[in-house]
Amino acid sequence: MCGIFGCILKRGRAAPLIHAALKRLEYRGYDSVGEATLRDQQLFIKKDAGKIDAVHAIRNLDDLPGRIGVGHTRWATHGAPLQINAHPQSGCSDPPRIAVVHNGIIENFAELKKELEDRGHRFKSKTDTETIAHLIEENLKKRQTEPSEDVYSGFRSAVAGAVDRLVGSYAVAAVCTQEPDKIVCARNESPLVLGIADDAYYFASDIPAFLPLTNKVVYVENGELVTLSKKGFEITKLVDGSTVVRTPKLVDWTPRMAEKQGYPHFMLKEIHEQPRCLRDTLRLQEKYLELLTTFLDRAREVIMVACGTSYHACLAASYMFSKLSFLATHPVIASEFTEQHGKSVNIDSTILAVSQSGETADTLAAVETARQRAATILGLTNGVGSTLTRVSRVYIGQQSGPEIGVAATKTFTSQLSVLSQLAIRLGKKRGKISQEEIDLLDEKIEEIPDIVEKIVETQSKKVQSLAKKHRSKECFFFLGRGISYATALEGRLKLMEIAYMPSIAFPAGESKHGPISLVEPGFPVIFVCPPDETRRTLIGNIMEMKARGASVIAVCEEGDDEIMQLADDYIEITKGIPEVLSPIPYVVPLQLFAYHMALERGCDPDMPRNLAKSVTVK
Ligand code: M6R
Repeated sequence: MCGIFGCILKRGRAAPLIHAALKRLEYRGYDSVGEATLRDQQLFIKKDAGKIDAVHAIRNLDDLPGRIGVGHTRWATHGAPLQINAHPQSGCSDPPRIAVVHNGIIENFAELKKELEDRGHRFKSKTDTETIAHLIEENLKKRQTEPSEDVYSGFRSAVAGAVDRLVGSYAVAAVCTQEPDKIVCARNESPLVLGIADDAYYFASDIPAFLPLTNKVVYVENGELVTLSKKGFEITKLVDGSTVVRTPKLVDWTPRMAEKQGYPHFMLKEIHEQPRCLRDTLRLQEKYLELLTTFLDRAREVIMVACGTSYHACLAASYMFSKLSFLATHPVIASEFTEQHGKSVNIDSTILAVSQSGETADTLAAVETARQRAATILGLTNGVGSTLTRVSRVYIGQQSGPEIGVAATKTFTSQLSVLSQLAIRLGKKRGKISQEEIDLLDEKIEEIPDIVEKIVETQSKKVQSLAKKHRSKECFFFLGRGISYATALEGRLKLMEIAYMPSIAFPAGESKHGPISLVEPGFPVIFVCPPDETRRTLIGNIMEMKARGASVIAVCEEGDDEIMQLADDYIEITKGIPEVLSPIPYVVPLQLFAYHMALERGCDPDMPRNLAKSVTVK
């Protein structure tokens, strides 16, 4: 996730305005920043790695000349946070003639890059975005020499032709010295809005970018091309060039509300962002997935280290790897790693470190212990450019964008999605699962984003009323069997950390070995019950709890009448989800439950007491 912004002004200079707008978009990404402005058919570009204030202090982002410009605040996906990878990106020409800013992921950039390099283009960065600049450059060149039957002409046609080649998600904007009075933008899946003022036109990823300047907004839809000029804006459909007439809408948000896109809290916004983030995990670079799979395949022993929510993702992954690829992995809480494995880890060990931030001190300390004993380090993180990426032999960036709420939500489901993709690949490589099973898993993993979207849409009200009903309880149990034990642990962590509700999670089979002694009439027990092989035994565990008067809430498959009749309350999850993928949708109602319980109990879900988003001390 990144933030893009641009403007065409009738008076004044664009640069300071772009700088201020990027500051308001900084919550979308903050590892690099850049601006490009146009004056007298000349392009002026400043960009660097670092937070906006730090870059501004060194480079002064305000002194670029001209009334037209584009800007970008980056959350690295392809290529580390370095100046060369910061946006705007340009083509081959020197001085640059094209500047492109982009939010999204271009899935087919490697093929396009190869094709363009074969045509003589030279790439400078590791970004997918640079491909767009070269495509536009190539199209401009072609259109000068070859007659075109395009509906568009000139620069517009070059941008339309470029985005036509892209597979993936993008909100992209380009400027060009050849037609210095225009900004051309296009959208597919990544957000893009226009701001309309009397003396200016803006485009941005989100409304807060221009909210202090105008509250007149035009929403750009997927598959649309926008041309901004001093005369106004023109929207056309990319598919046939037909004009779209859309009148601006007035929004009455405060800047803070706008940052949260109208959601009262970042946590709720991030829960709602999960479908999009999950889609992005399906666009990860093939070569890194393949490389990681190869390392896992060759490993003598695999130890997964992580803390908190990331540890729960590892625990779920240990079931995935075992079931799909017959690989035994050991999930270990990072702060225990040195004590537990410090002496045994060795050159034959492979460590898969999972950390949203990539900066968690306990995880990095575990990695350091393993590194000193010559183990191979693999990483999965949301923080491209983080310490974890630097100490890993190979890493995958999960591409969830910044998560601001202290409670991990979208980053957890994205970790699960990446880990399940690795387990499926490994199963395939090792010949441990049938083609039929692989096809089904591939099909289902594609459906998961829509399923999560449906759960959020249809179950939120019910979850909210459950939170009302149980707000004054003193303790909760979260129970599951098999892979759902990890889901139960995650549901319990969410409730504890943001609603300050003492909660216990354990494998349902453990009840009789101790914890059931806590149960008395009305004691709330949440069961995670996907219809997997553990379902029958789990029903026995539900009955044990019911017999002691527990108030049972079941998260179960829709139409599972037997469980629905046993439970006092239930949340329904779409049918037909394979067991190994079940933690992704089944955790969503538990995230929502924790969120609503926090509100019911007067707690701030975004900033729970005593906690920090990134724990950088041991
Ligand atoms: O950045 P990391 O994934 O390494 O962070 C690990 C934990 O600190 C983190 O998951 C924490 O438990 C969250 N607050 C959970 O919501």
